[in-house]
Amino acid sequence: MKTLNINQNESLGALVTRYPALRAVFEKHRLDYCCNGQQTLQQAAENAGLDVAALQDELAAAVQDAAAGTPPKDWSAAGAEELCDYIVDHHHGFMRRQLPRLRTLFDQVRAAHGEKHGDLIDALREVFDGLAAEIEMHLEKEEQILFPYITQFERHLLAGAPLPEVHCGSVQNPIRQMEYEHDNAGAALDRMRQLTSNWQPPGDACEKFKALYDGLAELESDLHEHIHLENNILFPKAVRLEAKVSL
Ligand SMILES: [Fe+2]
Ligand SMILES: [Fe+2]
Repeated sequence: MKTLNINQNESLGALVTRYPALRAVFEKHRLDYCCNGQQTLQQAAENAGLDVAALQDELAAAVQDAAAGTPPKDWSAAGAEELCDYIVDHHHGFMRRQLPRLRTLFDQVRAAHGEKHGDLIDALREVFDGLAAEIEMHLEKEEQILFPYITQFERHLLAGAPLPEVHCGSVQNPIRQMEYEHDNAGAALDRMRQLTSNWQPPGDACEKFKALYDGLAELESDLHEHIHLENNILFPKAVRLEAKVSL
């Protein structure tokens, strides 16, 4: 694939307007593309002590990744342990990176736009905080209890490893709890989508406001894929594994 050329003499504001995928990289390096959006990429990189050529490569990769997406894999054919590992690395990792980033964006947007859009931002923040707290506990429960349990069942069937110690009766009990929490998360996202009129920022929103809405929309889309992999693929696999063990 031809490498995209990100012009170092172009302003951060112009670049992020043309390539919205650059926001995440600018946020990561704390390059101000909002109030100081007129500075060129070269100036911004120099002020931040970053190597401009390396930054250009990182930005080009972000644009190309966003355009290409990840090729889909048939997870129904994969082992339970491989799928658990993928979910933890990919989707739990995404949440652990994005939830703190979104909290910071909320603080910044509240400080800049509180006067005019305070009610909207506060209502959104309340739903977000509830969702984020529940997700953080949910990830721990899956990683500490349910996923190791499922993985041990599979290892027992494949290689005769010892069966997991059963603390929760059938695997269906923790699964039901996780599915209940997934439903709550889905409802919180629907509520935020409603409050934001389908993630449409107000007409006077600055780039940070737009970044917040884009981040929430990405959270929604990632969580949808995440829940799909668990509810529709991993959990039925776990129930089948348990049934084989109990035969
Ligand atoms: Fe999960
Ligand atoms: Fe989950």
